[in-house]
Amino acid sequence: MSLRATIEQEIRERGPIPFSRYMEICLYDADQGYYARHAEQFGKAGDFYTSSDIHAVFGRLLARQFEEMWRALDRPPQLEILELGPGRGLFARDVLDWSKKKFPDFFARLTYTLQESSPALRARLQQTLREHLHSGTAVVPEERPSLAQRFSAGSRAEGDQVAEGRPARPCRTLAPKTPLIVFSNEFFDARPVEILGAQGKLHLALENNHLHEIFLPPSAEELEFLDRYSVHPEPGERIEISLPAQRWITQIAHTIERGFLLIIDYGYTRNQQLAGHHRGTLMAYRQHSASANPYQAPGEQDLTAHVNFTALAAATVQAGLQIQELLTQSQFLMRIGEANQFADVFEDCRLPQERAKVALQLKHLVSPAGMGENFQVLLASRM
Ligand SMILES: C[S@@+](CC[C@H](N)C(=O)[O-])C[C@H]1O[C@@H](n2cnc3c(N)ncnc32)[C@H](O)[C@@H]1O
Repeated sequence: MSLRATIEQEIRERGPIPFSRYMEICLYDADQGYYARHAEQFGKAGDFYTSSDIHAVFGRLLARQFEEMWRALDRPPQLEILELGPGRGLFARDVLDWSKKKFPDFFARLTYTLQESSPALRARLQQTLREHLHSGTAVVPEERPSLAQRFSAGSRAEGDQVAEGRPARPCRTLAPKTPLIVFSNEFFDARPVEILGAQGKLHLALENNHLHEIFLPPSAEELEFLDRYSVHPEPGERIEISLPAQRWITQIAHTIERGFLLIIDYGYTRNQQLAGHHRGTLMAYRQHSASANPYQAPGEQDLTAHVNFTALAAATVQAGLQIQELLTQSQFLMRIGEANQFADVFEDCRLPQERAKVALQLKHLVSPAGMGENFQVLLASRM
């Protein structure tokens, strides 16, 4: 059965489904979801680039940042980094290789856990990180059967726990007392979102056996989210909100008994929305072309929405963490790199042409026209 047919069958059985459920099936269906199907989404031959696809500089700069965090924690004998949604693991590989070379004291204390829900990508991680997995520095935990799979026989329970198919729970390797850094890049933009319009909350129904958009009343929790962290849609606007993202960040923050949280993603703040920006950011990506139509080829295109950092930061504070910084990727990377004139970036360049190429890649990561201003960085801690 095609994914479209699976979705239509669910609507026949359950009635109209909210957009978040449609997005969840498209991305995470255990057999045919976008991330479950294969591991070829990334890079030139795939559908999109992430910062780690561009150059090792991203991982190298972050290795320097992680080492600084380890020192800020008074050089504990053990430290765990937990990366959520590592994809192919290029970032982890760059961090670990650079740490081993440049920061051996830090590297010797490090356990790097990669929590990845896609079996195809977990298999890819085994290749990318072979050496570090073999030595025990890197760990890829097996995913427990997801609640989506357990409830797939039509007995799907409603509510918080299964709002995203699998529990929003970070999965550590070391004991809770061991200091922890939780890191993610482009994890939150892959959380299912609800879409709110002036007429209500978007649902999908069937009309003449075709998917059809209808609007039903939003919940009190969703309206409260708009009041506190976002804006109410004007006629014709569609605003996304992700309650699963809020549940994730809350769980993550509670998992950090001592340590840091570092979240990087396409994102915005409420003030930017009030100024008229980021009011409707849902996009579909396939083979590097963007489309605003999420209903084409379910399961074959990536669906993503920018992340509300005002809401993430508020949940982080509610869970008892201290916000250190909320800034753009450009500001963040410039601050780390400027300390040593970006020596990490240019170290392997022998020829002027190599330097020029790497300078261009760095520019893409930090310039407003590239990824520098669209990406936000949330840095928080519990010391
Ligand atoms: C947009 S990709 C980003 C990959 C990588 N961080 C990068 O920057 O290249 C999102 C990743 O999150 C993973 N993912 C999504 N939901 C997850 C979950 N609940 N637990 C673990 N991984 C998840 C996906 O399989 C995918 O690898």
